[in-house]
Amino acid sequence: MADKPKPDDRPITVRDFAERKRKGEKLVVMTAYDALFGRLVDESGVDAILVGDSVGTAVMGYTSTLPVTLDHMIYHASAVRRGVKRALIIIDMPFLSYQASIESAVLNCGRAIQETGVTAVKVEGGSSEMLDTVHALVRTGIPVMAHIGFTPQSVNTIGGARVQGREEEGAERLIGEAKGLEEAGAFGIVLELVPAPVSARITAAVGIPTIGIGAGLQCDGQVLVLPDVLGLNDTFKPKFLKRYAEMAPEVRSAIGSWARDVRSGAYPDAEHSF
Ligand code: KIV
Repeated sequence: MADKPKPDDRPITVRDFAERKRKGEKLVVMTAYDALFGRLVDESGVDAILVGDSVGTAVMGYTSTLPVTLDHMIYHASAVRRGVKRALIIIDMPFLSYQASIESAVLNCGRAIQETGVTAVKVEGGSSEMLDTVHALVRTGIPVMAHIGFTPQSVNTIGGARVQGREEEGAERLIGEAKGLEEAGAFGIVLELVPAPVSARITAAVGIPTIGIGAGLQCDGQVLVLPDVLGLNDTFKPKFLKRYAEMAPEVRSAIGSWARDVRSGAYPDAEHSF
């Protein structure tokens, strides 16, 4: 008879997100873009993996997330899905895949869930633009993670990666947007580049978890971008980022050693030959 999964091995669901907030337990979310790192990130015990459209800047070499398409996201999220057993997987919906109409949002988010097998979608924007869309998605059976503060798909209208809600008016607007998104049925909200005291007010104002990136300690959870945390993108160092490894020099050094061995004839030696 197959072993029964231990309680901690069972897949994380959106209900666990609500439960964690209720219990005051932090949520840990990390991005991943392929099956290899999806598996490693999952095995490290995170609660959720976001297949972020940050794939555009972190992996694909674009200078913004705007060129990322739904086909790209489906490709990457399907790969992550194949590597992950436990973490909740959220697919980031890319620019133009959900903003034009509620119908296109439902069809594109539905396609993303259907073709990748992941559980939830993330969409950018506050309740003033997204209320009806989030409501329609949740009614269709698609769990939605919202995203307010700095929203990278609006980088051109915002005028750069700027902290949002520094003034009281902006802070109150963000609190209102968060409340509206909760009412619309979102199961969580990413807060990006929001002053820590404002994040604390938002977090206290809503019953769903807030997941911060550059949004201070008092969010209910944190998310970071995998290649940044691992120090693979060694030219990118925003204030909020803490690197937990310095892998770029290690990668250059390992490949450099191998190249030297190939050129000198030291590889492959007898041990590595048939
Ligand atoms: O695309 C992404 O990785 C994100 C996170 C930074 C929240 O949206």
